[in-house]
Amino acid sequence: MKFFVDTADIAEIRALAASGLLDGVTTNPTLIAKSGRRILDVIAEICSVVPGPVSAEVAATEYEQILREADVLRRIASNVTIKVPLTPDGLRACRRLADQGVMVNVTLCFSAAQALLAAKAGATFISPFVGRLDDVGTDGMKLISDIVTIYRNYPALTTEVLVASVRHPIHVVEAAKLGAHVATLPPAVLRALYNHPLTDKGLAAFLADWAKTGQQIVELE
Ligand code: E4P
Repeated sequence: MKFFVDTADIAEIRALAASGLLDGVTTNPTLIAKSGRRILDVIAEICSVVPGPVSAEVAATEYEQILREADVLRRIASNVTIKVPLTPDGLRACRRLADQGVMVNVTLCFSAAQALLAAKAGATFISPFVGRLDDVGTDGMKLISDIVTIYRNYPALTTEVLVASVRHPIHVVEAAKLGAHVATLPPAVLRALYNHPLTDKGLAAFLADWAKTGQQIVELE
């Protein structure tokens, strides 16, 4: 499973990229607004740090305008992925961009039928929002299961399932068990994946016992 980070905070992205576990980045208008910076500058800086796909979302909703914005965003760097909303105009733009060899992330997916349309429109990624579905009392992970099943039924569909609106490590584990290709995680969730109290406890015990030996491995050669 690939891990993307869902943030426009460049300091966070640099720190997480240093882990060697980061495969890409997703942003959205809310995250760009939170950064307080110009979208072109933020996306350019992210692309200089992360070589994998970096999603930059259009703000337009009408077909021609979506394509105009996509043209501006895609010129930032070759790893920019154009994020479009799951609307008739968004999917029409997706088809056009995909035909031009541009990576497209179709966002705001809340149903399996929408995911099927996005795949037929040539999306590189479909972003189903599991957390927002859970918030309204619908099982977000059931949607991931349905999309993975549908895409597997049609091997010609190459769209990757990018699990979005992830809130906690259980979302990540469940999505991985279902075979989702990618999860985009808020930095805090990505960091939380490392944690287990028994790891901390075990390490403390090993270090205490090791200290009693008085040995320094680098001095033993
Ligand atoms: C994905 O691309 C979206 O930016 C993101 O996952 C939305 O998450 P939220 O529901 O926490 O805002």
